[in-house]
Amino acid sequence: MRRFLTPGDLGDISKALQEAAEVKKNPLSFQHLGKNRTAALIFFNSSLRTRLSTQKAALNLGMNVIVLDINKESWKLETEYGVVMDGDKPEHIREAVPVIGQYCDIIGVRSFAKFENKEEDYSERLLNQFIEYSGRPVISMESATRHPLQAFADLITIEEHKKVKRPKVVLTWAPHPRALPQAVPNSFVEWMKMADVDLTVTHPKGYELAPEFMEGVQIEYDQDKAFEGADFIYAKSWASFSDYGKVLSTDRNWTVDERKMALTNNAKFMHCLPVRRNMIVSDGVLDGPDSIVVQEAANRVVSAQTVIKRILETL
Ligand code: CP
Repeated sequence: MRRFLTPGDLGDISKALQEAAEVKKNPLSFQHLGKNRTAALIFFNSSLRTRLSTQKAALNLGMNVIVLDINKESWKLETEYGVVMDGDKPEHIREAVPVIGQYCDIIGVRSFAKFENKEEDYSERLLNQFIEYSGRPVISMESATRHPLQAFADLITIEEHKKVKRPKVVLTWAPHPRALPQAVPNSFVEWMKMADVDLTVTHPKGYELAPEFMEGVQIEYDQDKAFEGADFIYAKSWASFSDYGKVLSTDRNWTVDERKMALTNNAKFMHCLPVRRNMIVSDGVLDGPDSIVVQEAANRVVSAQTVIKRILETL
């Protein structure tokens, strides 16, 4: 495997889930694979879970790990071509990426949407530059449009907690004071479409996700109706795709609370974290017995380790 951006990169999803279960059961059984190998984890944006879980996953596999926060610990990088570099960016990505590739065997990259230009964000230029110029396998640790390590962990978590063969899974938009990228909901939808689940997406009008992700997916604009009979509620805020990067609503009627969870089939509550309490979800739901956000975050190690293991097996 040379890249990890979509569920298609893992092939058969049920096999990947079986492999993830094996990795979770025996996390230190594959250390020979990473011996004398190095992972470089490159962050253009902040992280708690992705940074720690991916590092832990690589360490579990016996790898050495280098972590670089580009904005705090490195030269500012120019990403445009044909520019006269007389500003505050002393290094070009065209040299930086192949140089990083010289120091490692696998690269993980985190780079969020900038919300300046939809086409630019959805072209995934930065991630593609790493794929093209690093000479190494590249793992997305959340890019402008996708967060596949999160979505794989979400699917693992649903598999572990489901009580029926084909659970009803509801992705609900929730209010947030700032414009957040569509990467998490895009990937969540993309992965749930590959899984044996009944998926409904609910959000206010104007928050439709990109058509390339939503083809064939049921949208229910009435959140209460969407929650009826749900086995899993997955809350997330995202900015508008059509009115790109804009916050169209902060309506707290969309906050997930105890009344709404009571409409469900004793649903488990999920969120990728970090989460804003009493904006996205009430304290009561988040601290309640059906919240599985910590277990979900724990599975970030499992998803990352399964992916890195696959790559190491092909080196
Ligand atoms: N869910 C997630 O990716 O968390 P971090 O932004 O803290 O890495």
